[in-house]
Amino acid sequence: MSAYADHIATVKARFDEALTATGFDSVLIYAGQPRVAFLDDNPAPYKVNPLFKYWVPVIESPKSAIFYQPGQKPVVFLFKPRDFWHAEVKIPAEEWQQHVELIVIDNQEKMTDWLGDKIKSAAFIGEDFAEPVASWPVKARNPANLIDHLHFHRAIKTAWEVENMRQANKLAAKAHLAARDAFMAGASELEIHHAYLAAINFRESQVPYNSIVALNEHGAVLHYDVYETSAPEQSRSFLIDAGALYRGYCADITRTYSREEGFFADLIEAMDDAQQSLLSEIKPGINYYELHVSQHLKIAKILGEFGFVKGTAESIYEQGYSSAFFPHGLGHFIGLQVHDVGGFLANDRGDTIARDPRHPFLRLLRDVEVGQVFTIEPGLYVVDQLLEEHAGNKDFNWDKIAELRPYGGIRIEDSIVVGTDGNNENLTRDAFAELGS
Ligand code: GLY
Ligand code: MN
Ligand code: MN
Repeated sequence: MSAYADHIATVKARFDEALTATGFDSVLIYAGQPRVAFLDDNPAPYKVNPLFKYWVPVIESPKSAIFYQPGQKPVVFLFKPRDFWHAEVKIPAEEWQQHVELIVIDNQEKMTDWLGDKIKSAAFIGEDFAEPVASWPVKARNPANLIDHLHFHRAIKTAWEVENMRQANKLAAKAHLAARDAFMAGASELEIHHAYLAAINFRESQVPYNSIVALNEHGAVLHYDVYETSAPEQSRSFLIDAGALYRGYCADITRTYSREEGFFADLIEAMDDAQQSLLSEIKPGINYYELHVSQHLKIAKILGEFGFVKGTAESIYEQGYSSAFFPHGLGHFIGLQVHDVGGFLANDRGDTIARDPRHPFLRLLRDVEVGQVFTIEPGLYVVDQLLEEHAGNKDFNWDKIAELRPYGGIRIEDSIVVGTDGNNENLTRDAFAELGS
């Protein structure tokens, strides 16, 4: 069986179980359609419904839909408008077409006519802000129990999904190296951003999230995406968090660079070691929360050793000092979505795992299992808003922190496929290694 054949068999089985558990006969998954800006008729970039691209690697065909009834072949209604305003959508012959009944439509009524009364017993999954979708007489719209069931099981990736993420990481790694070279050559943030996109022939709307391209102090702004058009007088440090998409699957990579030897380069190396040493702790059965705390302790140790804060790793962590420097979560599931879903689900019935208010931004609280793919992305930044809370605290070496401020911060992010007994695959490091980096 090919990897895709195996994947779609798994998707079918997961839908069969989810539909049985929630009492629906069938499902109608709508790909979605672009929204237009207020009082305008210009479409915003279109992003396909992730549960549509779970079935078929089709990401650029808005207004398409999939109808699936257990025991039957999934029916893909592929929308191809016949008009003289837009270029014709080309759908090359691909393997997925052998596994579905493909019906090309140029009008959504053709789909509802084909479905007839069947639509009345279908659960609908998708966005329905526009007509005629808003008036389709489906049985239920986005039922939470069905979606939770699907989301819980999506955490375990098929071999085909992992291969797509491997390819996405290869693309992103190539673009990261081009961005690094542009930084080393003294380029502006916008020029670096362009170098990134050009390296892989992507347009901006094709990357899975707004790339974070941050020079110097900007590295401390966790979601910085402003892109200064001129280079700073002195380009000291560079934090880039940028991904790529392959067949609808995401890469999400962060790297931090220094243009100088010395203190900041040493700190990057210490953070890289801390991230690498955490990777060896990833084993089925451990909870992701434990990994997050373990990474905090390693960062706390670095904070002590570099003299930012006084104390042992444990006391720095226990007093909440490490959270001032590492405020975000260790990582998240990744797949069809950058922040893939299901990180808080305790089971497929939709029960959730209680969050710890100490770590409010941690998106993943599940036990680690073979086949999960998640990121590991520790960070260390000078975020003044967070440090204000500790103003006047003598455990903090404010002079040393001032020394770090002009460099912004550090984040290092890889995507990991969990294997048996710690036999994990690092999609990101492997992609860089293949490029000799
Ligand atoms: N790029 C978003 C994140 O790392 O979660
Ligand atoms: Mn991430
Ligand atoms: Mn990222």
